[in-house]
Amino acid sequence: MRYLRKERNGSPENMPSVKISASVLNSNLAELGKEAAKIAENGVEYVHYDVMDGEFVENITYGSSIQKSLLPYTTAKMDTHLMVMHPQRQIKLFADAGSDIITFHVESDCNPHELIDEIHALNVKAGVAVKPNTPAEAVLPYIEKADMILVMTVEPGYGGQGFIPEMTDKIRLIRAEADRLGKDIDIQVDGGINTETAKLVKEAGANVLVAGPFLFKAENMKAAADSMR
Ligand code: DX5
Ligand code: ZN
Repeated sequence: MRYLRKERNGSPENMPSVKISASVLNSNLAELGKEAAKIAENGVEYVHYDVMDGEFVENITYGSSIQKSLLPYTTAKMDTHLMVMHPQRQIKLFADAGSDIITFHVESDCNPHELIDEIHALNVKAGVAVKPNTPAEAVLPYIEKADMILVMTVEPGYGGQGFIPEMTDKIRLIRAEADRLGKDIDIQVDGGINTETAKLVKEAGANVLVAGPFLFKAENMKAAADSMR
């Protein structure tokens, strides 16, 4: 079923608003504080903080202590994306390091229902992420409990990859199930998002758009973010 905003209870106001999350992964990491500061200054809602452990994905990035060190530099919310094999070990550390939302992968070694409860018990929102080759059905059971579903639109591990167009069907399916349940859940997309692909994913039902170099390499980050909204 094609997802249309105006079909939802006949009122577009029921659609969660479009928000932008700036991935610092490929920003100037030697000046991470300054890079993080740009995010709120340009009206972008979230810092997207990609945590990779060298096991769930081959790359290794940064842990909770570096996230914590960024807090004084920005008023943007911390959107923590855990690409780690054992997310349960990390959630308390990241809650203490200021995460507003912690997203873990359904493919990781965890019990998603229990982990969502544990994240909520730390007063943090919980997101469940799904890799491109994992079907939408894997995350449908968590729509009622989770605050966000993250549909990966590239293979996790690296920034700067091309958007996988088939992921729009997955977004539609998840949005349709959320509508059926009457839940205005956030659906985030991550990987290869720019002005053009933003249109496709929003039309499919996504409302939280992650972008890295598209924002950080733009001459004007605010204009780039606005072009995605
Ligand atoms: C990839 C990360 C993304 C990445 C997105 O595994 O989860 O957040 O930084 O970067 P772009 O916008 O370059 O695809
Ligand atoms: Zn990410």
